[in-house]
Amino acid sequence: NEPQARDLVEAHIATIPDFPEPGILFRDLTPVFADGPAFHTLSESLTAPFDGEFDVLAGLEARGFLLAAAASALCGKGVLTVRKAGKLPRPVLREEYALEYGTAALEVHEGELPPGTRVLIVDDVLATGGTVAASVRLIERAGWHVAGVSVAVELADLGGRAALAREFGDGLRVYNLLRY
Ligand code: PRP
Repeated sequence: NEPQARDLVEAHIATIPDFPEPGILFRDLTPVFADGPAFHTLSESLTAPFDGEFDVLAGLEARGFLLAAAASALCGKGVLTVRKAGKLPRPVLREEYALEYGTAALEVHEGELPPGTRVLIVDDVLATGGTVAASVRLIERAGWHVAGVSVAVELADLGGRAALAREFGDGLRVYNLLRY
């Protein structure tokens, strides 16, 4: 159940002060990935709230790939790889998003999924929401439907949830297993 899943996953998160910069408290999920039961539990818990509501998982490069792939093996749905710019070989749609300094871009292959496919976005961390917002815009522009957003950890102080609600409205459901 959810409280047990939360406890197991939280017990495997490493919290690192001053990484990658002074003043930042980094939530490191690599110990979760390295532990079979914790990784299994996390992967299951990300899709359970959306059971019956999605056709495909979207994994956001790079750590989102791990979670989407593991969840895919458990729920039997495929994975849309939302990639950093310049990696995909066929015609793409591209969306830029702001970083602290400058911008980055995410891409998907046009026509990778049938029109109207319901896509559940999966990632490790929701911080400012820029990565997820770019992914939502990509999926919508491609003609697919965003079934929701599911993250392992939401960093509440960074305002991602509010930013997503401002851009996409309250209809976009955002689930987190853990919130700091
Ligand atoms: C991290 C994290 C999320 C994103 C969250 O990815 O994995 O995808 O940042 O931040 P945001 O809500 O402010 O956009 P990063 O770009 O570091 O990529 P990585 O997974 O390839 O390390």
